[in-house]
Amino acid sequence: TRVRALIFSVSLRTGSYNNRLAELAARCSARAGADVDLAHISDWPVPMYDADTERADGPPPGLLGFTDRLAAAHALVIASPEYNASFPANIKNLIDWASRLRPQPLARKQVLLMSASPSMSGGNRGLWALRVPLEHLGARVYPEMFSLAQAHQAFEQDGDLKVEALATRFSSTITEFLSLVEASVHYPCAKQH
Ligand code: FNR
Repeated sequence: TRVRALIFSVSLRTGSYNNRLAELAARCSARAGADVDLAHISDWPVPMYDADTERADGPPPGLLGFTDRLAAAHALVIASPEYNASFPANIKNLIDWASRLRPQPLARKQVLLMSASPSMSGGNRGLWALRVPLEHLGARVYPEMFSLAQAHQAFEQDGDLKVEALATRFSSTITEFLSLVEASVHYPCAKQH
């Protein structure tokens, strides 16, 4: 089975470093042999979660757009900025909406987290925070994460990473993650009776 990976960035900013990182992850995953669905959080516009809206209108179409593409994927890769030592509100809102559906769209989904920031920490605190709601919902969040520090000077014109050691670590993080996903696709847990 070819691993199908849904990859998306959470930043809405033109020229976003996280968008570039997501695009690089998509190229790297495709080179590694995965079937890539490169998306963006703006593909799935949803209002701020409100139980009254949910009761009146049901799940918003943007949410179902997300969960359809998620259901078609074995693996999820998210590139997220760090805002104030955490992750941006738009991804929390999408997760909150998704958590209302049954079966849980994020349960048992294998997830790789990455971030990019001009800071020296590369937005890594945001990823530690993002693990919490994902793991709460039963997602299998890969232990290793990739945080790109000094992102404003990290990319080549063609979108690759300038520093060779970083480029190597980026691709090995992705290929090791995809190998783990592939193993779980080939050896699914037998149904218990
Ligand atoms: C930031 N930024 C930021 N960076 C960081 O490393 N740690 C942080 O806590 C924050 N906090 C923060 C809050 C808010 C409201 C904004 C707008 C920005 C800077 C952030 O990393 C920078 O804007 C990146 O360029 C955002 O990622 P994209 O949009 O380039 O993908």
